[in-house]
Amino acid sequence: MPREAFVNGRYVPHAQAAVHIEDRGYQFADGIYEVVTLHNGALIDEELHLDRLERSLGELRIAMPMSRAAMKLVARETIRRNGVSNGIIYMQITRGVAPRDHKFPHKTCPALVMTTRQMKPHSAKLLAEGAKVVTVPDIRWSRCDIKSISLLPNVLAKQAAAEEGAYEAWQVDADGFVTEGSSTNAWIVTGDGKVVTRAAGHEILNGITRISLIKLIESQGYTLEERSFSLDEARVAKEAFITSSTSFVLPVTQIDDTPVGNGHPGILTGKLRRHYFDFMTSAGDPI
Ligand code: PDD
Repeated sequence: MPREAFVNGRYVPHAQAAVHIEDRGYQFADGIYEVVTLHNGALIDEELHLDRLERSLGELRIAMPMSRAAMKLVARETIRRNGVSNGIIYMQITRGVAPRDHKFPHKTCPALVMTTRQMKPHSAKLLAEGAKVVTVPDIRWSRCDIKSISLLPNVLAKQAAAEEGAYEAWQVDADGFVTEGSSTNAWIVTGDGKVVTRAAGHEILNGITRISLIKLIESQGYTLEERSFSLDEARVAKEAFITSSTSFVLPVTQIDDTPVGNGHPGILTGKLRRHYFDFMTSAGDPI
């Protein structure tokens, strides 16, 4: 099935999908995005993703390119045209096309692009061994809660991970606390079984997987602490894991050169991963 993308009102062959060189996303990274999981033909937490999309747009004073209902229709049609059942849909909205000038242009329509792709499940090796993370200084701006397409520090962090053969890079703030991964939220499990993740604020993206997992943790009766944890605390944690729309709940078994716990994926992490998959299987919106 040939791939198609939605670009500013039209479905076009993926290979020819293009935006204008004066799109402000291209020139200023003046835009936002969302990545929504498709699990067995169902969209996971679509409403929460659209809530965050609208919030990010509001923070940047970019208008919705179309109504929320129309966005949902376009997402479904893009998925249908590409025959995707397990993977992601990517939505990007920029302030639009205008002659290059930093301040907001007058009367420019926001630009909307959607693409979708099938994704393979995580490899058995990754799941059996868990992920390695490296650590990097968090050099990002002070509004990481906005899902901005301006991702250079995240790109550099993920590249640093790749060069070390690691899956992810955890970013560490000036006080030695882990903020989040380059494209995931960071979690640890303490020696006494408490699940810890940084509180939502301007320093991290409030992951949708994070939000849904918090609900599952609470409903399953585990103890959750939303607070900052230091790299030192993470190094001696019993378990660690990351969450995102593409990683789901993925065990972390090594932080830089230090094994986490016994160096194997944590038992509680495994349970949470299974709870999350059960949730995805039961709670998705069929398209
Ligand atoms: N990344 N933190 C950052 C910096 C992220 O980029 C992401 C998502 C997350 C997790 O958010 P969610 O659970 O809503 O996926 C946390 C997406 C998947 C990406 O950039 O591809």
